[in-house]
Amino acid sequence: MSLKLPRIIGHRGAAGYAPENTIESIHTAADMGIEWVELDVKLTKDEVPIIFHDDTLERTTNGSGLVSQTLYEDIKELDCGSWYGESFIGVNIPTLEEVIDILIDRDLGLNLEIKPCKGREKETAEIALDLLSTIWDDHNRLLISSFDHVSLESACDIANDWHRGLLLPEEWPENWQELTKYLQVSTINVNASSITRKQVEDVMDMEKPLLAYTVNDPQQARTLQSWGVDGFFSDTPDLIKEVIISVH
Ligand code: G3P
Ligand code: MG
Repeated sequence: MSLKLPRIIGHRGAAGYAPENTIESIHTAADMGIEWVELDVKLTKDEVPIIFHDDTLERTTNGSGLVSQTLYEDIKELDCGSWYGESFIGVNIPTLEEVIDILIDRDLGLNLEIKPCKGREKETAEIALDLLSTIWDDHNRLLISSFDHVSLESACDIANDWHRGLLLPEEWPENWQELTKYLQVSTINVNASSITRKQVEDVMDMEKPLLAYTVNDPQQARTLQSWGVDGFFSDTPDLIKEVIISVH
């Protein structure tokens, strides 16, 4: 299986134009002609995989408390659109299963970021990948990524032949090169705000595609591409697409 990575991946759908990690956000990215989206997955208290970024509900919903302590029947009643804008009142948090149907329907590739709540690193990967394995066929257009090494290790055990991406935070772990090999990742996904040219070169030495998050400034995208960055996660993927040289 060879990974068919695009240059631009819509971040949390197209989070600059619609509430992040929602079906509306996915449709917005697709309507712009974006080929892939990145979405975060975590588990409710009763182990339903939902598309959601934070550990807590406050920032993006009208609820409160920990996602890991909230049942899906309560999560599904929450509004996760009104914080973003009046036109999104009534938008709900989608499940992984719901978004997969939309992604297939809209012919989108997926970077699923495993975003486990503390203590659920293994089961989040297991449950998400188990579900994906029953519905997702196109493994050239699927990338499983995580900052969490236990989640990636589980992904490695469960579906060794699926493509994985290692997410690096601003502070890179000293052993990032070993991790890359141990976790058998296909891509290295770095924080664009702090990356140096030397770090880009170090990743290029590993001969793996380098993806940078989250790039909303076209000038920054141009500079990073000139350094050798292969692809970008963006909340405003249409703007980045305009300035990126798109040869594969
Ligand atoms: O996967 C890229 C990016 O989404 C990682 O950071 O916090 O936006 O999930 P975050
Ligand atoms: Mg993410």
